[in-house]
Amino acid sequence: MSHTEYIQSEICNCILTLRINRPEKKNALNLAMYQRLADALREADCDDSVRVILISGAGGCFTSGNDMSDFLSAPPTGPESPVMQFLFAISEVRKPLIAAVDGLAVGVGVTMLLHCDMVYAGSSATFQMPFVNLGLCPEAGSSLLLPRIMGHQRAAVLLLLGEVFSAEKACNLGIVTEVCPDDALLATAEKRALQLAKQPAAAVRSAKSLLKRDYAVQLREAIVEEGAEFMARLKSPEAAEALQAFMQRRTPDFSRFS
Ligand code: COA
Repeated sequence: MSHTEYIQSEICNCILTLRINRPEKKNALNLAMYQRLADALREADCDDSVRVILISGAGGCFTSGNDMSDFLSAPPTGPESPVMQFLFAISEVRKPLIAAVDGLAVGVGVTMLLHCDMVYAGSSATFQMPFVNLGLCPEAGSSLLLPRIMGHQRAAVLLLLGEVFSAEKACNLGIVTEVCPDDALLATAEKRALQLAKQPAAAVRSAKSLLKRDYAVQLREAIVEEGAEFMARLKSPEAAEALQAFMQRRTPDFSRFS
């Protein structure tokens, strides 16, 4: 595993580990990182030496989500953009997917978890989906999946207010499988991955596919529709104010927009 790469990957015991490794930017995902993740997920589905995929973050952080400066300098423009490729890949991967969430999960760092089969979180991990706070909208199929998982009102609180919430709350809401002590997080996720890797692989794929059968088609449609709205909202005055405020380290002021 190369330690200089932003996405580190390694196959060991039939487990493909994808580690997000840009700790100086809280593991924010830039275009190249999305593309690498998308390619790695697609390749894993065709690679007989991979039976389970484990996503984690380096440096005590899962990911702070989309790179904020990319929102300004290289926004997604269509379904071929790296972020959309990543969302299609993670929502369609046939092999089981486990996430180990350490520290921070923000934006797509949370919504990608909705596509995982098991999510383990360190007890001090925090979660936030600040799309609306940024003048944007839900993505990654979250407008479909969150209400399915927890009901409209709980999903609305998370998405419309965009507040930070704890690992325990994430677990109670059904988007984290188990909360572990921080220092046991990786070992717990790896133990589960190893257990899954020993299961009959074709039966695992079959069960995963059946679990998603009643919403697989709508999920792709939701990702496409949300993507179009997200790209439009990135050009809105509200998003411009929010992104400038982030860069200038100040609180945004939305009072002049109606
Ligand atoms: N995109 C680009 N850079 C990011 C980033 C992101 N999503 N998240 C953090 N960074 C950068 C910061 O700008 C800072 O860079 P600098 O040292 O060059 O100034 C560095 O990572 C450390 O972040 P900092 O804000 O100092 O850490 P913190 O612990 O105080 O706060 C966050 C961490 C994640 C809460 C805060 O950085 C944040 O809110 N980031 C934006 C998250 C976000 O809105 N993501 C997109 C959702 S759609």
